[in-house]
Amino acid sequence: MEKLLETVTYLKNHGIKEVDFGLILGSGLGELAEDIQESIKIPYQEIPNFPVSTVVGHMGQLVYGKLAGKMVLVMQGRFHYYEGHRMEVIVYPIRVMKALGCHSLVVTNAAGGINEGFQPGDLMLITDQINCMGDNPLIGPNWEKMGPRFPDMSQAYDLGYQQKIKKLAEKQNIDLKEGVYLAFSGPTYETPAEIRMARTLGADAVGMSTVPEVIAANHAGMKVLGISCITNLAAGMQQSLNHEEVVETTQQVKSTFSCLVKEVLMIL
Ligand code: HPA
Repeated sequence: MEKLLETVTYLKNHGIKEVDFGLILGSGLGELAEDIQESIKIPYQEIPNFPVSTVVGHMGQLVYGKLAGKMVLVMQGRFHYYEGHRMEVIVYPIRVMKALGCHSLVVTNAAGGINEGFQPGDLMLITDQINCMGDNPLIGPNWEKMGPRFPDMSQAYDLGYQQKIKKLAEKQNIDLKEGVYLAFSGPTYETPAEIRMARTLGADAVGMSTVPEVIAANHAGMKVLGISCITNLAAGMQQSLNHEEVVETTQQVKSTFSCLVKEVLMIL
Protein backbone atom coordinates (compact mmCIF):
# COMPACT_ATOMS: atom_id res chain seq x y z
CA MET A 1 0.00 0.00 0.00
CA GLU A 2 2.79 2.41 0.92
CA LYS A 3 4.70 1.49 -2.22
CA LEU A 4 1.59 2.02 -4.33
CA LEU A 5 1.04 5.42 -2.76
CA GLU A 6 4.63 6.39 -3.55
CA THR A 7 4.26 5.32 -7.19
CA VAL A 8 0.93 7.08 -7.62
CA THR A 9 2.20 10.27 -5.98
CA TYR A 10 5.21 10.29 -8.32
CA LEU A 11 2.99 9.85 -11.38
CA LYS A 12 0.58 12.57 -10.24
CA ASN A 13 3.50 14.92 -9.64
CA HIS A 14 4.60 14.22 -13.21
CA GLY A 15 1.30 15.33 -14.66
CA ILE A 16 -0.67 12.10 -14.76
CA LYS A 17 -4.01 13.25 -13.44
CA GLU A 18 -7.39 11.75 -14.38
CA VAL A 19 -7.25 8.43 -16.20
CA ASP A 20 -10.21 6.49 -17.57
CA PHE A 21 -8.62 3.69 -19.55
CA GLY A 22 -5.50 1.67 -18.98
CA LEU A 23 -3.97 0.14 -22.09
CA ILE A 24 -1.38 -2.59 -22.32
CA LEU A 25 0.32 -2.84 -25.68
CA GLY A 26 1.84 -6.22 -26.49
CA SER A 27 4.85 -7.30 -28.56
CA GLY A 28 5.22 -5.12 -31.64
CA LEU A 29 1.98 -3.23 -30.92
CA GLY A 30 3.49 -0.35 -28.96
CA GLU A 31 3.36 2.19 -31.77
CA LEU A 32 -0.25 3.06 -31.03
CA ALA A 33 1.05 5.13 -28.12
CA GLU A 34 2.63 7.54 -30.65
CA ASP A 35 -0.88 8.72 -31.54
CA ILE A 36 -1.55 10.06 -28.06
CA GLN A 37 -1.97 13.83 -27.97
CA GLU A 38 0.03 16.03 -25.60
CA SER A 39 1.57 12.90 -24.24
CA ILE A 40 3.64 12.53 -21.12
CA LYS A 41 6.14 9.67 -21.35
CA ILE A 42 7.85 8.17 -18.34
CA PRO A 43 10.32 5.27 -18.68
CA TYR A 44 9.64 2.45 -16.24
CA GLN A 45 13.07 2.74 -14.66
CA GLU A 46 12.27 6.28 -13.50
CA ILE A 47 9.08 5.29 -11.69
CA PRO A 48 9.51 4.34 -8.04
CA ASN A 49 8.69 0.67 -7.34
CA PHE A 50 8.03 -0.08 -11.01
CA PRO A 51 9.61 -3.19 -12.54
CA VAL A 52 11.60 -2.97 -15.78
CA SER A 53 10.89 -5.07 -18.89
CA THR A 54 13.64 -6.86 -20.77
CA VAL A 55 12.09 -8.21 -24.00
CA VAL A 56 13.09 -7.08 -27.49
CA GLY A 57 10.10 -5.36 -29.13
CA HIS A 58 8.81 -4.15 -25.76
CA MET A 59 9.72 -0.55 -25.06
CA GLY A 60 9.19 -0.06 -21.37
CA GLN A 61 7.50 3.25 -20.68
CA LEU A 62 4.21 4.69 -19.54
CA VAL A 63 2.53 7.07 -21.95
CA TYR A 64 -0.26 9.30 -20.69
CA GLY A 65 -2.59 11.58 -22.60
CA LYS A 66 -5.66 11.79 -24.79
CA LEU A 67 -6.39 9.05 -27.31
CA ALA A 68 -9.64 8.96 -29.27
CA GLY A 69 -11.13 11.46 -26.85
CA LYS A 70 -10.34 9.40 -23.77
CA MET A 71 -7.74 9.94 -21.06
CA VAL A 72 -5.51 6.91 -21.24
CA LEU A 73 -2.48 5.53 -19.48
CA VAL A 74 -0.62 3.22 -21.82
CA MET A 75 1.92 0.60 -20.94
CA GLN A 76 4.29 0.46 -23.87
CA GLY A 77 5.70 -2.92 -22.96
CA ARG A 78 4.55 -5.24 -20.20
CA PHE A 79 6.09 -7.61 -17.66
CA HIS A 80 6.15 -11.33 -18.25
CA TYR A 81 6.27 -14.26 -15.87
CA TYR A 82 9.10 -15.83 -17.89
CA GLU A 83 11.32 -12.84 -17.19
CA GLY A 84 11.41 -14.07 -13.64
CA HIS A 85 9.02 -11.52 -12.16
CA ARG A 86 6.66 -12.69 -9.46
CA MET A 87 2.99 -12.51 -10.42
CA GLU A 88 2.51 -9.74 -7.89
CA VAL A 89 5.09 -7.68 -9.77
CA ILE A 90 3.50 -8.34 -13.15
CA VAL A 91 0.17 -6.95 -12.00
CA TYR A 92 1.58 -3.99 -10.05
CA PRO A 93 0.85 -1.57 -12.91
CA ILE A 94 -2.80 -2.68 -12.89
CA ARG A 95 -3.06 -1.67 -9.23
CA VAL A 96 -1.43 1.64 -10.10
CA MET A 97 -3.96 2.21 -12.88
CA LYS A 98 -6.82 1.43 -10.49
CA ALA A 99 -5.41 3.83 -7.90
CA LEU A 100 -5.25 6.54 -10.59
CA GLY A 101 -8.95 6.07 -11.29
CA CYS A 102 -8.98 3.71 -14.30
CA HIS A 103 -12.32 1.99 -14.58
CA SER A 104 -11.38 -0.10 -17.60
CA LEU A 105 -8.43 -1.95 -19.04
CA VAL A 106 -7.70 -2.67 -22.69
CA VAL A 107 -5.22 -5.56 -23.03
CA THR A 108 -3.51 -6.55 -26.23
CA ASN A 109 -1.00 -9.25 -27.09
CA ALA A 110 0.64 -11.27 -29.79
CA ALA A 111 -0.61 -14.85 -29.81
CA GLY A 112 -0.32 -18.10 -31.69
CA GLY A 113 -3.46 -19.27 -33.50
CA ILE A 114 -4.81 -22.64 -32.36
CA ASN A 115 -8.23 -22.36 -34.01
CA GLU A 116 -7.97 -23.90 -37.51
CA GLY A 117 -9.95 -20.98 -38.90
CA PHE A 118 -7.31 -18.39 -37.94
CA GLN A 119 -4.47 -17.04 -40.07
CA PRO A 120 -1.40 -15.00 -39.17
CA GLY A 121 -2.44 -11.35 -39.22
CA ASP A 122 -5.93 -11.98 -37.86
CA LEU A 123 -7.17 -9.95 -34.91
CA MET A 124 -9.06 -11.88 -32.25
CA LEU A 125 -11.43 -10.48 -29.67
CA ILE A 126 -10.67 -12.33 -26.43
CA THR A 127 -13.95 -13.67 -25.03
CA ASP A 128 -12.47 -15.64 -22.13
CA GLN A 129 -9.19 -17.00 -20.83
CA ILE A 130 -7.58 -20.16 -19.46
CA ASN A 131 -4.82 -19.88 -16.88
CA CYS A 132 -2.19 -22.55 -17.57
CA MET A 133 0.65 -20.53 -16.05
CA GLY A 134 0.68 -22.54 -12.87
CA ASP A 135 0.41 -19.45 -10.68
CA ASN A 136 -2.07 -16.72 -9.80
CA PRO A 137 -1.32 -13.08 -8.91
CA LEU A 138 -3.88 -13.14 -6.08
CA ILE A 139 -2.17 -15.92 -4.14
CA GLY A 140 -1.22 -14.63 -0.69
CA PRO A 141 -3.00 -12.35 1.75
CA ASN A 142 -5.93 -10.63 0.08
CA TRP A 143 -5.69 -6.90 -0.49
CA GLU A 144 -9.16 -6.11 0.87
CA LYS A 145 -9.13 -2.49 -0.28
CA MET A 146 -8.46 -3.64 -3.84
CA GLY A 147 -11.04 -6.42 -4.09
CA PRO A 148 -12.58 -9.60 -2.68
CA ARG A 149 -10.78 -12.80 -1.60
CA PHE A 150 -12.60 -14.88 -4.20
CA PRO A 151 -13.20 -12.70 -7.26
CA ASP A 152 -15.84 -13.72 -9.79
CA MET A 153 -14.34 -14.45 -13.21
CA SER A 154 -17.65 -15.30 -14.96
CA GLN A 155 -17.30 -12.26 -17.18
CA ALA A 156 -13.58 -11.62 -17.11
CA TYR A 157 -13.88 -9.80 -20.44
CA ASP A 158 -16.80 -7.38 -20.31
CA LEU A 159 -19.74 -8.54 -22.42
CA GLY A 160 -20.89 -5.01 -23.20
CA TYR A 161 -17.44 -4.10 -24.51
CA GLN A 162 -17.39 -7.29 -26.58
CA GLN A 163 -20.68 -6.40 -28.20
CA LYS A 164 -19.52 -2.87 -28.94
CA ILE A 165 -16.29 -3.91 -30.65
CA LYS A 166 -18.00 -6.64 -32.65
CA LYS A 167 -20.56 -4.17 -34.00
CA LEU A 168 -17.79 -1.73 -34.79
CA ALA A 169 -15.66 -4.32 -36.61
CA GLU A 170 -18.66 -5.29 -38.69
CA LYS A 171 -19.32 -1.68 -39.62
CA GLN A 172 -15.66 -1.16 -40.54
CA ASN A 173 -15.41 -4.40 -42.49
CA ILE A 174 -12.72 -5.74 -40.17
CA ASP A 175 -12.78 -9.53 -39.97
CA LEU A 176 -12.52 -9.68 -36.18
CA LYS A 177 -12.22 -13.26 -34.98
CA GLU A 178 -13.16 -14.19 -31.44
CA GLY A 179 -12.04 -16.83 -29.01
CA VAL A 180 -10.48 -18.04 -25.82
CA TYR A 181 -6.90 -17.07 -24.93
CA LEU A 182 -4.78 -19.56 -23.04
CA ALA A 183 -1.51 -18.60 -21.38
CA PHE A 184 1.44 -20.83 -20.58
CA SER A 185 4.38 -19.48 -18.60
CA GLY A 186 6.85 -19.57 -21.52
CA PRO A 187 9.55 -18.69 -22.45
CA THR A 188 9.59 -21.81 -24.64
CA TYR A 189 7.03 -21.85 -27.37
CA GLU A 190 4.71 -24.80 -26.93
CA THR A 191 5.21 -28.31 -28.23
CA PRO A 192 2.72 -29.61 -30.78
CA ALA A 193 1.36 -31.93 -28.06
CA GLU A 194 0.80 -28.98 -25.73
CA ILE A 195 -1.06 -27.20 -28.51
CA ARG A 196 -3.30 -30.24 -29.05
CA MET A 197 -3.96 -30.23 -25.31
CA ALA A 198 -4.75 -26.50 -25.37
CA ARG A 199 -7.18 -27.04 -28.26
CA THR A 200 -8.88 -29.86 -26.36
CA LEU A 201 -9.16 -27.55 -23.36
CA GLY A 202 -11.03 -25.03 -25.48
CA ALA A 203 -8.36 -22.53 -26.44
CA ASP A 204 -8.35 -20.63 -29.73
CA ALA A 205 -5.12 -18.74 -29.18
CA VAL A 206 -2.04 -19.18 -27.03
CA GLY A 207 0.45 -16.80 -25.47
CA MET A 208 2.60 -16.00 -22.46
CA SER A 209 0.93 -12.93 -20.99
CA THR A 210 -2.36 -11.12 -20.29
CA VAL A 211 -3.92 -13.70 -17.96
CA PRO A 212 -2.36 -12.28 -14.75
CA GLU A 213 -3.24 -8.69 -15.63
CA VAL A 214 -6.84 -9.62 -16.43
CA ILE A 215 -7.14 -11.47 -13.11
CA ALA A 216 -5.86 -8.41 -11.22
CA ALA A 217 -8.16 -6.09 -13.19
CA ASN A 218 -11.18 -8.24 -12.37
CA HIS A 219 -10.12 -8.34 -8.73
CA ALA A 220 -10.04 -4.54 -8.74
CA GLY A 221 -13.46 -4.28 -10.40
CA MET A 222 -12.18 -2.98 -13.71
CA LYS A 223 -13.92 -3.78 -16.99
CA VAL A 224 -11.67 -5.49 -19.52
CA LEU A 225 -11.47 -5.53 -23.29
CA GLY A 226 -8.91 -7.88 -24.86
CA ILE A 227 -7.52 -8.15 -28.38
CA SER A 228 -4.99 -10.69 -29.61
CA CYS A 229 -2.98 -10.28 -32.76
CA ILE A 230 -2.57 -13.76 -34.22
CA THR A 231 1.04 -13.60 -35.33
CA ASN A 232 1.59 -17.23 -36.29
CA LEU A 233 -0.05 -20.61 -36.34
CA ALA A 234 0.64 -22.46 -33.11
CA ALA A 235 3.32 -25.16 -32.80
CA GLY A 236 2.69 -28.19 -34.99
CA MET A 237 0.48 -26.18 -37.34
CA GLN A 238 3.44 -24.57 -39.11
CA GLN A 239 7.07 -25.63 -39.58
CA SER A 240 8.70 -23.75 -36.71
CA LEU A 241 8.23 -20.66 -34.56
CA ASN A 242 10.38 -17.66 -33.83
CA HIS A 243 10.08 -14.25 -32.21
CA GLU A 244 11.13 -12.43 -35.40
CA GLU A 245 8.06 -13.75 -37.21
CA VAL A 246 5.88 -12.67 -34.31
CA VAL A 247 7.19 -9.10 -34.47
CA GLU A 248 7.05 -9.08 -38.29
CA THR A 249 3.35 -10.01 -38.33
CA THR A 250 2.50 -7.32 -35.78
CA GLN A 251 4.19 -4.80 -38.09
CA GLN A 252 1.91 -5.88 -40.94
CA VAL A 253 -1.31 -5.43 -38.98
CA LYS A 254 -0.39 -2.51 -36.76
CA SER A 255 -2.40 0.06 -38.72
CA THR A 256 -5.61 -2.03 -38.67
CA PHE A 257 -4.95 -2.82 -35.02
CA SER A 258 -4.40 0.84 -34.10
CA CYS A 259 -7.52 1.91 -36.01
CA LEU A 260 -9.65 -0.69 -34.26
CA VAL A 261 -8.40 0.24 -30.79
CA LYS A 262 -8.88 3.98 -31.38
CA GLU A 263 -12.34 3.56 -32.88
CA VAL A 264 -13.47 1.33 -30.05
CA LEU A 265 -12.09 3.71 -27.42
CA MET A 266 -14.31 6.37 -28.92
CA ILE A 267 -17.47 4.37 -28.24
CA LEU A 268 -16.59 2.73 -24.90
N1 HPA B 1 2.93 -19.23 -28.50
C1 HPA B 1 3.12 -18.48 -27.40
N2 HPA B 1 3.22 -17.18 -27.41
C2 HPA B 1 3.12 -16.56 -28.61
C3 HPA B 1 2.95 -17.26 -29.79
C4 HPA B 1 2.85 -18.68 -29.75
O1 HPA B 1 2.69 -19.38 -30.75
N3 HPA B 1 2.90 -16.34 -30.80
C5 HPA B 1 3.06 -15.13 -30.22
N4 HPA B 1 3.19 -15.25 -28.90
